[in-house]
Amino acid sequence: MTHSNWIAILDFGSQVTQLIARRIREQKVYCEIIRFDTPIEEIRRRAPKGIILSGGPCSVPADDSPKCNPTIFELGIPILGICYGMQLAAHTLGGKVFGSDKREYGKAIMHVTGSSPLFQGLDLDLQVWMSHGDKVEAMPEGFEAVAESDNCPYAAMQHIERQIYGVQFHPEVVHTPQGTEMLWNFAFNICGCKADWEMSAFIDDTVQRVRKQVGDDHVILGLSGGVDSSVVAALLHKAIGPQLHCVFVDNGLLRHREVADVEDLFGRAFGIDLHVARSADDFLDKLEGISDPERKRKIIGNTFIDIFAEKARELKSLGPITFLAQGTLYPDVIESVSPIGGPSATIKSHHNVGGLPEDLGFDLIEPLRELFKDEVREVGRELGLPSYVVDRQPFPGPGLAVRIIGEITREQLEVLRQADLRVREEIMKMENHLDVWQYFAVLLPIQSVGVMGDDRTYENVIAVRAVQSRDGMTADWYKLPYEVMDSISNRIINEVKGVNRVVYDISSKPPSTIEWE
Ligand code: XMP
Repeated sequence: MTHSNWIAILDFGSQVTQLIARRIREQKVYCEIIRFDTPIEEIRRRAPKGIILSGGPCSVPADDSPKCNPTIFELGIPILGICYGMQLAAHTLGGKVFGSDKREYGKAIMHVTGSSPLFQGLDLDLQVWMSHGDKVEAMPEGFEAVAESDNCPYAAMQHIERQIYGVQFHPEVVHTPQGTEMLWNFAFNICGCKADWEMSAFIDDTVQRVRKQVGDDHVILGLSGGVDSSVVAALLHKAIGPQLHCVFVDNGLLRHREVADVEDLFGRAFGIDLHVARSADDFLDKLEGISDPERKRKIIGNTFIDIFAEKARELKSLGPITFLAQGTLYPDVIESVSPIGGPSATIKSHHNVGGLPEDLGFDLIEPLRELFKDEVREVGRELGLPSYVVDRQPFPGPGLAVRIIGEITREQLEVLRQADLRVREEIMKMENHLDVWQYFAVLLPIQSVGVMGDDRTYENVIAVRAVQSRDGMTADWYKLPYEVMDSISNRIINEVKGVNRVVYDISSKPPSTIEWE
């Protein structure tokens, strides 16, 4: 997609650079994170309406710290430097940056001392989030200070004629409550952007682009039922209808009704050409007797690739399938600057169907590679996908295999499936169930004693896991109401044959992980 109304974010390696992009896109302005050393010709050619210099972990005065081409400041494009970005602007334009290893980290109160379009409509005393060691000691000529804090005489600076702004704090994080308004002011008041980044426009544009790219050829897509591949399926179906062929691999490790739901929605409701590989026996036979979690994962991954490749060959023999579609998202393709050891390009690649044999010779089609996850969900909603798909919680590729501790048998899988169904049903009755990031049952490889009537029983233990998280990297155990725990426990013990004890996992990540294996 080519954008004329966009903001470029030059990445100097801050861990929160992505948040700047998300805050800007929430205002319906397209933006992209690009490398700090992107050639000036490219920036000129792509003509952003504004440039943001991100924060970063390095020290501007150091010789080896990342620096952008100084011509950026001469382009006449409005610039906002954030933290490291502000220091870099000051340093490059003749000011002085004081290198210090004493950090100021946390909330601070900032007083706005001058008139600035950046702070238009905001209070004069603002809570901001600081995270810096170095700071600007002398501003470059022509700049004026427009805000100060106890620790920072130049908490914000500007050069109105040259349209260059700098803030020492981080407007992109939630701890700067009016930071979003500041970024709004920058995008609309200063850069003159329009709010035209709408998902409906994205869909129309992508449909046109995919039609042009694919022509009369055909596309294959591995559909997992997860958010990303489901949205790709709906989007490509809108674009190329019968030229899309989806392959869904039933590995026997899925949750209750998952296969049927995919068949109902994509096969019947959408009318997509859906091929279900019913391969549960392949997977379960290979997993027999295996208890090491990493071996389980390997076996499942390899078997998946074999089956998908076989289906792909089969479909290829029927007609010209030249493209493989993937649900790669924007965070997977951002070229990031490594925070440690100086700048280095690390491109994370994402292959949902990684490891496909080369001889299949597909060209890739990745229609979501410009989008963040919440934008993908919005596209899904626009395309008419139901909430149980677009708001779906993460589910690991190896499925229930990593939720049965130790060896997997068909009987245990059924016990887990039934217990898991009850966990999900009870939590989904909660009004705020979308606040729980992930919830599921785990089958433990121990048997415990119980009583049933006059008899002693010796049966399975189910652990219930529910967590709150933003991205899966860290997580807190979710404080489920006692009544919900009670109904989960009662229903599992009364309704699921083979379980006589239910426990609740109260560990957070780190040091525990979300999954048990
Ligand atoms: P952990 O257990 O590492 O999980 O705290 C973090 C998130 O990743 C999911 N997960 C996986 N997803 N393949 C996947 O596709 C896997 O092997 C896998 N293991 C964990 C987990 O469900 C959680 O959302």
